[in-house]
Amino acid sequence: MTESRNLVDAIRKLKETRKAIILAHNYQPAEIQEVADLTGDSLELSRQAAETDAQVIVFCGVHFMAETAAILNPDKVVLLPNIQAGCAMADMINARDVRRVAEEHPGVPIVTYVNSTAEVKAESTICCTSANVNSVVASFTDAQTLYLIPDQNLALYAARHTSKKILYWKGYCPVHHNLTAETVRSRKKQYPKAVFLAHPECRPEVLELADVVTSTSGMLRYVRESDRDTFIIGTEVGILHPMRRDNPGKTFLPVSEDMVCPDMKKTSLEDVLRSLETLSPRIQVPEEVRVRALQAVERMLAI
Ligand code: 13P
Ligand code: SF4
Repeated sequence: MTESRNLVDAIRKLKETRKAIILAHNYQPAEIQEVADLTGDSLELSRQAAETDAQVIVFCGVHFMAETAAILNPDKVVLLPNIQAGCAMADMINARDVRRVAEEHPGVPIVTYVNSTAEVKAESTICCTSANVNSVVASFTDAQTLYLIPDQNLALYAARHTSKKILYWKGYCPVHHNLTAETVRSRKKQYPKAVFLAHPECRPEVLELADVVTSTSGMLRYVRESDRDTFIIGTEVGILHPMRRDNPGKTFLPVSEDMVCPDMKKTSLEDVLRSLETLSPRIQVPEEVRVRALQAVERMLAI
């Protein structure tokens, strides 16, 4: 306890000296969310990265998130405290795959979930997140067909909200894709009065059972504003920390204890402190890739 208190104090002090800001995703370990200046979902963190005056951005999340911050802030130092923190879904497609998709579907806009590498974003028409995918799809007023990458479940979710034809890459997030409708049904049976919230990265048959489908920050907003008192949460378990902290009178149950993203759990307080001390590991995107990826990200942020 004292040791982690000392670490937190040292991080806070050094953060001032470095003129740094600490951003943390909603899935990060509780102690990392607590030491962060701002927490949020992928879209909010992208916006915060775009708006900050800080010289140093310590991104507590996974690699693609820090890369997005680096795409938006070429002159700042963007740090990913644990360089091993990747994303299984982002690794399911590469730039060559996207070029092949574009060749096979000439003229079809490619809508890329931010959970992707900078190289993949650079080959894309526009980016989207789980919070804005339906508005991004709707923004293509002239296109009748769109190609969504890399998440099949997000694509199928978007397809349910548009009359456009949605083609898609068959990637998935193992944490969400492994959740079955059977698990959800049995949890709902245990807590029949609970509201079930699910992330769009879940399978369609799971979303079918959900009362609310939204991004991680959408979930945080929903439970705060709701007058209901029990919620089953269908996303990574890290989000239970802010839910319980901010809503002491309400009950939050993970739909499954197995929904743990190992990469989101790799960042420790020690990593954050070391990162501020050494200004590493630094995430940089080659300029030629960055400028093309930036177009796709900025097109999204303008919506
Ligand atoms: P949100 O954008 O809803 O936070 O989800 C992103 C995600 O799955 C990060 O892994
Ligand atoms: Fe990637 Fe899924 Fe982990 Fe998010 S939860 S970082 S999509 S593997």
